[in-house]
Amino acid sequence: MRKRTLAVALLLAATSATVTACGDDSDDGTGSGKTPKIGVILPDSKTSARWETADRKYLTEAFKAAGVEFDIQNAQDDKTQFQTIADQMITNGVDVLVIVNLDSGTGKAVLDKAKSQGVATIDYDRLTLGGGAQYYVSFDNVKVGQRIGDGLVKCLADMKASKPVVAELNGGPTDNNAKLFKDGYDSVLKPKYDSGEYVKGPDQSVPKWDNTEAGTIFEQMLVQKPDIAGVAAANDGLANAAIAALRKQKLNGKVPVTGQDATTQGLQNVLVGDQCMTVYKPIKQEADALAKLAIALAKKETPAAPDKVYDPEGKRDVPSVLLEAQSIFKANVKDVVNDGYVTKQELCTGDFAAKCAEVGIN
Ligand code: BGC
Repeated sequence: MRKRTLAVALLLAATSATVTACGDDSDDGTGSGKTPKIGVILPDSKTSARWETADRKYLTEAFKAAGVEFDIQNAQDDKTQFQTIADQMITNGVDVLVIVNLDSGTGKAVLDKAKSQGVATIDYDRLTLGGGAQYYVSFDNVKVGQRIGDGLVKCLADMKASKPVVAELNGGPTDNNAKLFKDGYDSVLKPKYDSGEYVKGPDQSVPKWDNTEAGTIFEQMLVQKPDIAGVAAANDGLANAAIAALRKQKLNGKVPVTGQDATTQGLQNVLVGDQCMTVYKPIKQEADALAKLAIALAKKETPAAPDKVYDPEGKRDVPSVLLEAQSIFKANVKDVVNDGYVTKQELCTGDFAAKCAEVGIN
């Protein structure tokens, strides 16, 4: 991990060095002397708090610090809107178009159009299968999924669960990340199902990561299998939906639930013991990596990328920056606060204050 972090740091340092060098010239490297312009399309604001509270914030800070022009818009889970925003950005002369796709099909259409207009393209967080983006910036999402699986195993062991029935509440099927997360936690859970240590319970995807629908799906799972003893949930929003259903049955805290994103709500659920763990993805690092790459591309450079990801539909390796995530249990919630991702004021409200004090968030 050290080595990889170093590699990423070197790439970023090298990229910023080039950017600075170009910035010293009167020409910005685009040959036009104009300030680079970067467009970013975020997917929605309901499936995870991260897009508006973290990604938008950190990207804005990074672009402002670099002195580039930028336009960050949110498609609000509307594919038509997604395409309209992309068209506008291309018409407005962005040098680079960055997308978090809603699905690979519409993502590809937008990337193709950008490319045909000479606009550079980057997939942010979600890979567009067959999309042909020049770069991909994300986390190692299979490893993120493994953390969910390992976390659940630890939580079940702590509870001394015997032959627990494990339910899986997966992310949106059109999001390639949902598949990667599942590949990750299944790599941990499947051997346990196969050996009989765990019992495989209901296993369902939540269309478009819709948190409300997740609640309905999980309630049905509980009807079908009232003895569910552990839940691998693919993010904190889905986890919260499961926890709400468990609360109705007074099972919260008795059935470990995992998650991902370290949202304020997710961390609060961890603090009170209703959620066993979450995975913290330092979005600032992701946003910074994206900003550096986008700025280099806008300047017509060809930055090196430390990683690659295979796109099975495009049948190619996509040059990538893949960052590391961290598992968060009650005992280390403070790491997320110390990293500045959530403030004590946001997290330790009302009854959570006492819980924060218990785990050293002062
Ligand atoms: C992201 C997650 C997010 C989910 C729902 C995934 O692609 O990696 O962080 O929770 O989408 O928005």
